Amino acid sequence: MNSKLKIQNSKLRVAIFGGSGYGGSELLRILLQHPNVEIQFVTANEHAGKAVSDVHKNLLGLIDLNFIKAPEDVEGLSDIDCAFFALPHGQAMEMAPKLPAKVKVIDLSGDFRLGDSDIFAKHYGREHTAMDAQAQFVYGLTETNREAIKSATRIANPGCFATATLLGLAPLVANSLLSCRVIVDAKTGSSGSGAKAAANTHHPQRSNSFYAYKPFTHQHLPEIEQELKHAGDWNNELIFMTHSLPVARGIFASIYCETKREIGAADARAMFADFYSDSFFVRLVKGSPDINWVKTTNFCDIGFAARGRQLVIFTAIDNLVKGAAGQAIQNMNLMFGLDEKTGLTLIGTNP
Ligand SMILES: NC(=O)c1ccc[n+]([C@@H]2O[C@H](COP(=O)([O-])OP(=O)(O)OC[C@H]3O[C@@H](n4cnc5c(N)ncnc54)[C@H](OP(=O)(O)O)[C@@H]3O)[C@@H](O)[C@H]2O)c1
Repeated sequence: MNSKLKIQNSKLRVAIFGGSGYGGSELLRILLQHPNVEIQFVTANEHAGKAVSDVHKNLLGLIDLNFIKAPEDVEGLSDIDCAFFALPHGQAMEMAPKLPAKVKVIDLSGDFRLGDSDIFAKHYGREHTAMDAQAQFVYGLTETNREAIKSATRIANPGCFATATLLGLAPLVANSLLSCRVIVDAKTGSSGSGAKAAANTHHPQRSNSFYAYKPFTHQHLPEIEQELKHAGDWNNELIFMTHSLPVARGIFASIYCETKREIGAADARAMFADFYSDSFFVRLVKGSPDINWVKTTNFCDIGFAARGRQLVIFTAIDNLVKGAAGQAIQNMNLMFGLDEKTGLTLIGTNP
């Protein structure tokens, strides 16, 4: 039966590989309230065997599953409709290609985002072992790739920094408005590093602290450059710098550009409004966006400042929602013929 017809009669049977981390936690939080989804199993590594709600205590009383080890024979998993992979880089490329073709796959890691194996090896520090399978993956930045996502069976979900950067640049690239150099000055909260504490990510280091990391080498840089080339007339120089914010969630990017002709902030805003006219999850704000107002939501808030030909775009997302699980579910919705907002009209909190 065609998958779009099928969900009219029954729920989508979903599996999550790597459900005990932060990305998995957000997939569960959102999918448990999704009207068209039934979670079949959730895998973990060290947490295998534990109750899901013993690890994700926010889900106590809401889910009655234990984490299991990933099945050895993923080839035999023909009774699921969709598999999410929220595993460390390098894991999905070993497993996802073995799933039956009828199972739709959405990978949150960087394994299938890059079309060039040499660039992958340079930025991820490992050889790619499944480049044949990579060719089947569609890049899942929903707002710029909607039509391809609708007919895709394999999605490479974008990185969180890449999402914040590409949503801020896509309208300008599509309108051929950028001259020469673009500087992206981006900051993330600590959940961007995953659930396991490391020396540079745990509380005494991160709280009341601020620092740059991975200058010129961040693994999202090649993904951003690759997708800007797809977005339109892009042959600019990109300086991309990442920083650690002393907050748990959120990405804020300040994108500094010079435009070919003078456009004020109001014109930039009008152009973005037109470009994103069908995009519920992109909100244009007055002044600067704020990570507080997108936290726990799938929104990307965008603001503008301009002086002459200098234009700054500010973007804010929740790295775990629009930057990971939320966008992955937005893509799942499109792949199965659902309204992309289904299960995702999450409202943030004030304060
Ligand atoms: N965090 C973000 O903001 C964010 C945003 C976009 C994309 N991503 C990407 O999404 C993926 C998951 O990120 P995350 O932040 O959720 O990571 P995480 O919190 O570290 O969780 C990783 C998950 O993978 C499992 N795992 C770890 N090592 C494993 C192994 N050797 N074999 C099998 N399973 C293993 C863990 O299980 P146990 O805990 O039981 O060991 C856990 O369920 C990563 O590729 C990341 O780059 C993350």
